[in-house]
Amino acid sequence: MHLTHLSLADFRSYPRAEVVLGPGVSAFLGPNGQGKTNLVEAVGYLATLASHRVASDAPLVRMGAERAVLRAQVREGERQQLVELELNPGRANRARLNRSTQVRPRDLLGIVRTVLFAPEDLRLVKGDPGERRRFLDELVTARVPRMAGVRAEYERVLKQRNTLLKSAAMARRHGGRGMDLSTLDVWDQHLAGVGAELVAQRLALLEGLRPLADKAYDEVAPGGGPVALEYRGSAGEESAGPVGREGYTALLAEALTRSRPREIERGVTLVGPHRDELLLGLGELPAKGYASHGESWSLALALRLASYELLRDEGPEPILILDDVFAELDARRRHRLAELVASAEQVLVTAAVPEDVPEVLAGARYTVAEGQVSHVEGE
Ligand SMILES: Nc1ncnc2c1ncn2[C@@H]1O[C@H](COP(=O)(O)OP(=O)(O)O)[C@@H](O)[C@H]1O
Ligand SMILES: [Mg+2]
Repeated sequence: MHLTHLSLADFRSYPRAEVVLGPGVSAFLGPNGQGKTNLVEAVGYLATLASHRVASDAPLVRMGAERAVLRAQVREGERQQLVELELNPGRANRARLNRSTQVRPRDLLGIVRTVLFAPEDLRLVKGDPGERRRFLDELVTARVPRMAGVRAEYERVLKQRNTLLKSAAMARRHGGRGMDLSTLDVWDQHLAGVGAELVAQRLALLEGLRPLADKAYDEVAPGGGPVALEYRGSAGEESAGPVGREGYTALLAEALTRSRPREIERGVTLVGPHRDELLLGLGELPAKGYASHGESWSLALALRLASYELLRDEGPEPILILDDVFAELDARRRHRLAELVASAEQVLVTAAVPEDVPEVLAGARYTVAEGQVSHVEGE
């Protein structure tokens, strides 16, 4: 798939921007702080309903404006679709498909597919477990868009259950009789059921991702692997083997029962996919805390390349977005990455200077300066 048109209103630094795009490579060039990343961030947002840089929508709306609008014309084979998203920080976002129908934002998922590699991805390796859970869940959702609903439901149930646990903890502290905990049983069942669906999808994803990540790592850093992607479920899911959703539901329910006394003490849910960990390893060692800067970069890159291959094998080819990454890579990895991506249907690259974009990535060139995106003719 590829975008043929991107239109922004009051998104980040842009009062307005209209960018006509074609298949193949499009490189956005310009000095730092001019709005290159802002452009590709918008494309990533249309695909994932989240920014790769910030957790909330507020910074995405141009300072002083009330809302931002993102629009993209998407072409997949013969099919053209227009997706539109209105960001209203603090209120519900709104979405439209093909100009007429109002849809839920999450109904847009799956129409624009992207894999984005950016300097922030170093957090995948070096950051908190939450970064790796987000990586998994975004990819799970890209593969199976209805998982967005499951994730939202899990968040809702978790919040309700935590509220209940907090009041139980409070009641206990104040020496009351304790509260009626039968409500908690209902929430346990719910949490286990929804959580199991997410765990099952994460584990299935990892099955597909492992060989691809290993291969990708070997391509960007030969001999440095193998790559280990190890899931540490808070209910011991990975050692139970592929027991399916029912099996994981039972495991989670049991684990919740076991941890309930501690949970009532602490007033928070201690078991479930929101506490699970994805451990990354290189060779015999964990990546976090052991891998060098260069190895961490290679691993992050390998995870993105593997994601790209997985999505491409399973459905419409995703758009590959490389935000300011060539300058960070040494000649070998730069060349390897360029070779791998030169055949992609659409690649959006940002770089401060043209020399940072490898020559094999010939294609359209745009300059980004003072809020203007201009196509460079004759390139
Ligand atoms: N919500 C916003 N409103 C106005 N300007 C913003 C907003 N968010 C970011 N900016 C501006 O956008 C610029 C950064 O753009 P960015 O795309 O990250 O630059 P680069 O070209 O280096 O990738 C900064 O100058 C920042 O002040
Ligand atoms: Mg940038």
